Amino acid sequence: MSARRAPEVQLESLEPGDEEFHRTMWRYWRELGVDPNPLWASRYLSRIDDEQGIDRFTFWASTGSERCGFAMVRLQPDWLLPERTVGYIAEFYVFPSHRRRGVGRVMAERMIAFARSRGAEDVELDVLPTNRRGMQFWQALGFTLSHHHMRYAR
Ligand SMILES: CC(C)(COP(=O)(O)OP(=O)(O)OC[C@H]1O[C@@H](n2cnc3c(N)ncnc32)[C@H](O)[C@@H]1OP(=O)(O)O)[C@@H](O)C(=O)NCCC(=O)NCCS
Repeated sequence: MSARRAPEVQLESLEPGDEEFHRTMWRYWRELGVDPNPLWASRYLSRIDDEQGIDRFTFWASTGSERCGFAMVRLQPDWLLPERTVGYIAEFYVFPSHRRRGVGRVMAERMIAFARSRGAEDVELDVLPTNRRGMQFWQALGFTLSHHHMRYAR
């Protein structure tokens, strides 16, 4: 059996104010079963625009001439050791039509390499507890569970 060839994936930096990206974020939230408060969502989307290329980097991904997803990395100083940079994959989406072909793996490897090239030693992310596929994906790439993030909201 021959190993699958990694797909060619091109990354393109998001242009602030890209309405298509905002619509795609809503599709992503819906798929993940997240129902963000509209005020929170509009503030978050405008924050993404404001921080683009400063400490938050969002990329469209394409294979050939077709868009196939997006990825977002935030780079921040470690709270206690500010000389250290921590990379955080804040959002990550492969369009349903392009899944299980290795696109996500290539995108994630590129995000890790990007964070490392900007000084990050560690790369972290959060996964919703309902997102089993997301957990399996990140674990397949070598990520390990380090915390359970808990929330009290009544
Ligand atoms: C999770 C997601 C990014 C995976 O993208 P993808 O391009 O399909 O992933 P790949 O094809 O690169 O898969 C790499 C490996 O991850 C694991 N994996 C991916 N999808 C999986 C699934 N549905 N079930 C089990 N394992 C899976 C497999 O080990 C796979 O290797 P294999 O195909 O050789 O078995 C994609 O399904 C997605 O965007 N989901 C919705 C958004 C989301 O959950 N984002 C992550 C938020 S934390």
